[in-house]
Amino acid sequence: MKIIHSVEEMKSSTHATRRGRRSIGFVPTMGALHEGHRALIRRARRENDQVVVSIFVNPAQFGPREDFTQYPRALSKDLALLKQEKCDVVFIPSASQIYPPEFSTWVDVPACSASLCGKFRPGHFRGVATVVAALFQIVQPTRAYFGLKDYQQCRVIDRMVKDLQIPVRVVACPTVREPDGLACSSRNRRLSKRDREEAVKLYQALYLGRELIEQKIMLDSGRLETRLKQVLSQIPHCRIDYIAVVDPVTLAPMRKIRRPAVLAAALWIGKTRLIDNVVIS
Ligand code: PAJ
Repeated sequence: MKIIHSVEEMKSSTHATRRGRRSIGFVPTMGALHEGHRALIRRARRENDQVVVSIFVNPAQFGPREDFTQYPRALSKDLALLKQEKCDVVFIPSASQIYPPEFSTWVDVPACSASLCGKFRPGHFRGVATVVAALFQIVQPTRAYFGLKDYQQCRVIDRMVKDLQIPVRVVACPTVREPDGLACSSRNRRLSKRDREEAVKLYQALYLGRELIEQKIMLDSGRLETRLKQVLSQIPHCRIDYIAVVDPVTLAPMRKIRRPAVLAAALWIGKTRLIDNVVIS
């Protein structure tokens, strides 16, 4: 497994792979790897000749009062996991390599960034789209793997790739969950034992919501959201950012629920923000 820190070195590795007509499967991450990341890496391994994983805690996608400095970092454990998964190249650039002082170009995808998390994290998706566009230029992957746990992020990347004609196939992968249903997330490790036990209620509320929609018991999103907020408010030190039913493509809120739909939620447990969603097809 090759560890590359420099952008130039990453680009020449890419060129060599591409010259040999070998496909590149790319998994961009912010590290603190878990089973969700592992599933993306395994799929990339199955579908490509070479697997590149990037680890970069992207400052541009964190707001000024967000957890950039507290974001979990676990490099040596990450490298062990990547080796185990037979990753070929780990790309770990520094912030100054990606954002040199003269950096001045941003990728904005307003159509997909306005609702859900975009409302509560202004500039977040602009930071995500910009770094992913830059990483795509450096790594030039054949396929890039993203998790549906970050549903809105998948939509933003899809839109960007289509609009900018970026020659990469975006592969959206199902959400990997802990045995009790909580979606795997790097931020879960910041939860206390007690908060971790309570956090599963996020999934339980979404699961209940899906049942109520599928059984046609509640098809009015206002009523449904009120009902699910009751479930979530049982979590101690919980603050809900949103729980909403949206169109799977436009992410526009749905008043009368039609299918397909996505039921998505974001909440704070203490100082940790968790997101999750279920797709109702
Ligand atoms: P990060 O949170 O590290 O996630 C990296 C990838 O793993 C993303 O595509 C994310 O959706 C996926 N992922 C996370 N948890 C998952 C789960 N439980 N099941 C399936 N996939 C999961 O998302 C980012 O980093 C960043 O925004 C990034 C795209 C790297 C840009 O900085």
